Amino acid sequence: MATVLVVGGAGYIGSHMVKLLAGRGYSVVTFDDLSTGYRDAVVRGEFVQGSLADHAALDTVFRSRRFDAVMHFASFIQVGESVMEPAKYYANNFSNTLTLLDAMVAAGVGRFIFSSTAAIFGEPETELIAESHPQRPLNPYGRSKWMVEQALGDYDRAYGLKSVCLRYFNAAGADPEGELGERHQPETHLIPLVLQVASGRRPEIGIYGDGYPTPDGTCVRDYIHIVDLCEAHLLALDALVMEERSRAYNLGNGAGFSVRQVIDAARKATGCPIPAKVNPPRAGDPARLVADSARARAELGWRPRYEDLETIIAHAWAWERKVAAGA
Ligand code: UFG
Repeated sequence: MATVLVVGGAGYIGSHMVKLLAGRGYSVVTFDDLSTGYRDAVVRGEFVQGSLADHAALDTVFRSRRFDAVMHFASFIQVGESVMEPAKYYANNFSNTLTLLDAMVAAGVGRFIFSSTAAIFGEPETELIAESHPQRPLNPYGRSKWMVEQALGDYDRAYGLKSVCLRYFNAAGADPEGELGERHQPETHLIPLVLQVASGRRPEIGIYGDGYPTPDGTCVRDYIHIVDLCEAHLLALDALVMEERSRAYNLGNGAGFSVRQVIDAARKATGCPIPAKVNPPRAGDPARLVADSARARAELGWRPRYEDLETIIAHAWAWERKVAAGA
């Protein structure tokens, strides 16, 4: 069975990926500096604590065994912070990723699965966003990811490094077995924040604006279950093994839910009132971001299992109750 290096495997998406890979019989090594991740979220495989900025640490990992592929989840993800501190985003999300790619090239590891984002597209020009949509990121976060995508094209041409860029829409939900979930510090994402209100850890949810050109005035997003997202990585890896060709896929369910719809669904799932109030809009939030994932379905055979918002929220709620009980 193949051996995979999961960089950022102690974070929200990475930790679910590690569990899924190990469950499918892959040998997994997590490399993570624990700056935002948690050691106890790495529930399977081997763990190496190290920084992507540390060339020597990376070389040691690549010398320790023969990796068939690398999956890279270690990035900063807050759009607002990236506007205030672009250097932090370019240094980690771009420069450190090049360090990782260079270490791969030096070690002769030729397959790379990259966590990209819908933020590379900027303001949507079409109802559904396909891979061919113009790429005009609006902030340093999106630009840092887009720059990696550009660099990957060059690394393929020059060094033969093959990659799959997966552009996530809104990753949400939690491990259906309740072992893992979302633990961002600070939490900025809608679904965990809403559920923290339900569990009593927060007094209310603030809605960032209700004057958007959407049916109820609040922003519309495409929420995708974390396990479906991770499944797409496995399929992407299979596809790279079968056909050594670099490509990119947009990953979402193709259905948009407004902030108010998410809050209502959470009220239904939890039975809690969840007080909400409208705050001013957050800078840089597009009104609507919904994926066209037809390419991933056609080329990878990707079939999301947990498409409905109720299931996504139910799994996130089970995790929130567990965290709140221990808090
Ligand atoms: N929202 C609120 N109140 C909150 C938090 C969020 O109203 O307290 C709204 C946001 O304005 C947005 C929606 O809920 O309309 C979803 O917000 P999230 O922060 O959960 O997700 P984003 O769509 O902003 O972010 C997602 C990813 C980010 C990534 C970004 C890039 O989760 O990691 O897309 O487009 F950076």
